[in-house]
Amino acid sequence: MSAVMEGAVIQTENLSKVYKRWFRPGTFALNNLTITVPRGSIFGFLGPNGAGKTTTIKILMDLIKATSGKAYVLGRPSSDVEVKAKIGFLPDSPAFSPQLTAREFLNICAKLLRLPPEGRPERIEEVLETVKMADHAKDKIGSFSRGMLQRIGVAQAILNKPELLILDEPLLGLDPFGRQEFKNIILEQQKRGTSVFFSSHILSDVQEICNRIAILNKGKLLCTGPLDDLLACSGTSVTIAPGHDDILKELIAMAAGTEKQPDGAWVLNLGRNGEAVRRAEELSVKHPGALMISAMHENLEEFFFQTLEKDRAANGEQEHEQA
Ligand SMILES: Nc1ncnc2c1ncn2[C@@H]1O[C@H](COP(=O)(O)OP(=O)(O)OP(=O)(O)O)[C@@H](O)[C@H]1O
Ligand SMILES: [Mg+2]
Repeated sequence: MSAVMEGAVIQTENLSKVYKRWFRPGTFALNNLTITVPRGSIFGFLGPNGAGKTTTIKILMDLIKATSGKAYVLGRPSSDVEVKAKIGFLPDSPAFSPQLTAREFLNICAKLLRLPPEGRPERIEEVLETVKMADHAKDKIGSFSRGMLQRIGVAQAILNKPELLILDEPLLGLDPFGRQEFKNIILEQQKRGTSVFFSSHILSDVQEICNRIAILNKGKLLCTGPLDDLLACSGTSVTIAPGHDDILKELIAMAAGTEKQPDGAWVLNLGRNGEAVRRAEELSVKHPGALMISAMHENLEEFFFQTLEKDRAANGEQEHEQA
């Protein structure tokens, strides 16, 4: 095994898992997975149903043992109990006691996490606010909807201000507001230094917040890396801050598409129009803060399907599966 990479919050090397079955040969749920999650990442762990995402996460949390290979979390073997205190975890199907209120449940979690008694109630109220469940603090968990349970799951995961969040399908069951709030929570967590590793099938949300991804199929890694490197550049967009009407007028004439933001800023799609991009660059130097130029990337959903299609073609398969 090579040395644990400095700055990696998760590192696996040739990780494999075969679930044993009575009188039948086991199949590889995970087949030689090697991935690295650098500190500070928001890492999207993707793949169709049965790809091996939950299996990987369970090994990382030491809930099941790998058949072979290595898994390191925060620089330590995943079996290290010390490391657990620094991780926030949301399992794929969390079972919360229905008789407890949200606040009582979080209080038990806080005790299990050995949060110091002083400051515990304040921290619980803080996370309830963060996941927008403060109004339901006294309600029984048994009365919660799927999305409300998911919010409580996220609340317990961030309770100990973890260094690393490992979340198995945290977006499952959330309505569009809940998904937006979740994305904001994750971005906030990243700002305060938490690295995030989560599985999801909601590729538009993954594209919005993740800077790195891995795609798995049938236990095998198909690709991993920085999202922007994996998605081909499809052109340039420029965001013009409100109150710069002259710049807007000039560039809008060269744009292939336009969109006005709720705050009054305009986003112009300059596509591959080199002249327009050069002019935007000149203007951004001349008027600091007025324009923000960024590369537009291919859609993650298209990339995901293409990657899986290529894998299927390589394996001589033809069927079509869902993300
Ligand atoms: N306890 C188990 N016993 C036997 N096989 C299992 C077990 N758990 C998972 N598997 C098999 O391992 C493979 C990977 O399953 P896993 O749950 O890791 O997939 P996943 O990527 O999380 O899928 P999903 O998107 O549906 O959550 C599947 O073929 C599944 O049937
Ligand atoms: Mg799963």
